[in-house]
Amino acid sequence: MDAFRLAPCGPLRGRLRVPGDKSVTHRGLMLLALAEGEGRLFYPLKAGDTLSTARVLQALGAEVREEGPHFLVRGRGLRFQEPEDVLDCGNAGTLMRLLLGLLAGQEGLFAVLTGDASLRRRPMGRVVVPLRAMGARVDGREEGERAPLAVRGAPLRGLRYTLPVPSAQVKSALLLAGLFAEGVTEVEEPTPTRDHTERLFRHFGLPLEVEGRKVRTWRTGPFPAKDLVVPGDFSSAAFFLVAALVTPGSEVVVEGVGLNPTRTGLLTVLKAMGADLEWRVLEGEAGEPVGWVRARHSPLKGVAVDPGLIPLMVDEVPVLAAAAAWAEGETYIPGLSELRVKESDRVRAIAENLRALGVEVEEGPDWLRIRGGGVRPGRVRPFHDHRIAMAFAVAGLPVGVEVEEPHWAEISYPGFFQDLLRLCAAS
Ligand code: S3P
Repeated sequence: MDAFRLAPCGPLRGRLRVPGDKSVTHRGLMLLALAEGEGRLFYPLKAGDTLSTARVLQALGAEVREEGPHFLVRGRGLRFQEPEDVLDCGNAGTLMRLLLGLLAGQEGLFAVLTGDASLRRRPMGRVVVPLRAMGARVDGREEGERAPLAVRGAPLRGLRYTLPVPSAQVKSALLLAGLFAEGVTEVEEPTPTRDHTERLFRHFGLPLEVEGRKVRTWRTGPFPAKDLVVPGDFSSAAFFLVAALVTPGSEVVVEGVGLNPTRTGLLTVLKAMGADLEWRVLEGEAGEPVGWVRARHSPLKGVAVDPGLIPLMVDEVPVLAAAAAWAEGETYIPGLSELRVKESDRVRAIAENLRALGVEVEEGPDWLRIRGGGVRPGRVRPFHDHRIAMAFAVAGLPVGVEVEEPHWAEISYPGFFQDLLRLCAAS
């Protein structure tokens, strides 16, 4: 489909469960593939990115089968099989970066990692450089800065490393490599990032020590598989929360959603903008807090966002921009340098799409200033980026919007547009 035309949506009403968490699904599949025996991943995300992970792990000799909505994984007991062909990571940065950590210590095993045009443009040196310091043998374009990358598994030694940029992907890659390294691997983060890897290490009984901003691991022996329930993805829920906030008369409840505090920075910012939001943690799944969030339409006001919150909402900035467009006054969002190297240059993609909807916006190297007050109908471009496609569907929803190449949403949320239309129609 060339473009998806969304008519102006009346109030959004109803309850919704969003697909499984992308970060937890990637990690759950990888750790089950390393484990011994069979384990189930319940309610995983089955979308472009995580299906790439399933295929890559199959190519490395793990058995990954679909069982209804779930995955059944038979792990390799720490030792992968050499893949016969290049490993295609598709659009998934998390897969490529974590996989580098996973393969670095597989002594003798040779693998080549590639991906789509967007992934081949993204920086990989942030993982390759510290892995090399652990003894990894990795080569690639631009000295290993860009994929395709070739890895030859080698003996690793532990490393003490302070992350130069806040990145859960880099932290996780090093922790995974640390499971195969001699001695202790310690990663220190200047600001906290999502901690799903740490929580899953605990779930599987893998070596882990957390002290303030330092996380340590060391070599593991074989460990048994363990079933795992994946919570709904907060980043997917965020689109519906903002859609309800900006559309008069709306009330939406998202249920069964992960509320890990390293993911929910957006709730803090929206609250400061005056959003009528309520949430409750009801249970824990695999060490992850899970609950519901209710959003009711609210008059929003612009705010200056604390840059320290950005790593806790790094994927939600596009949808925050949608909320800012509908707020009264100006919203200033600093701390955005990492957004330049996501699936697209999200700072630019946000600015261009806001302009296409008639919103005044100023763009700096790592900041955005958005003058709110509402949007006018228009046509938006995803820039090959799932979150841009969904965020700008939400931005234009109250007045009607055309979204080019809507299929990009399927990278993390198959059925996004159907869910949106269902809630609009429920009013
Ligand atoms: C992710 C971490 C974030 C995020 C990405 C998923 C993860 O990237 O943007 O969508 O699963 O670890 P960085 O940690 O590189 O910022």
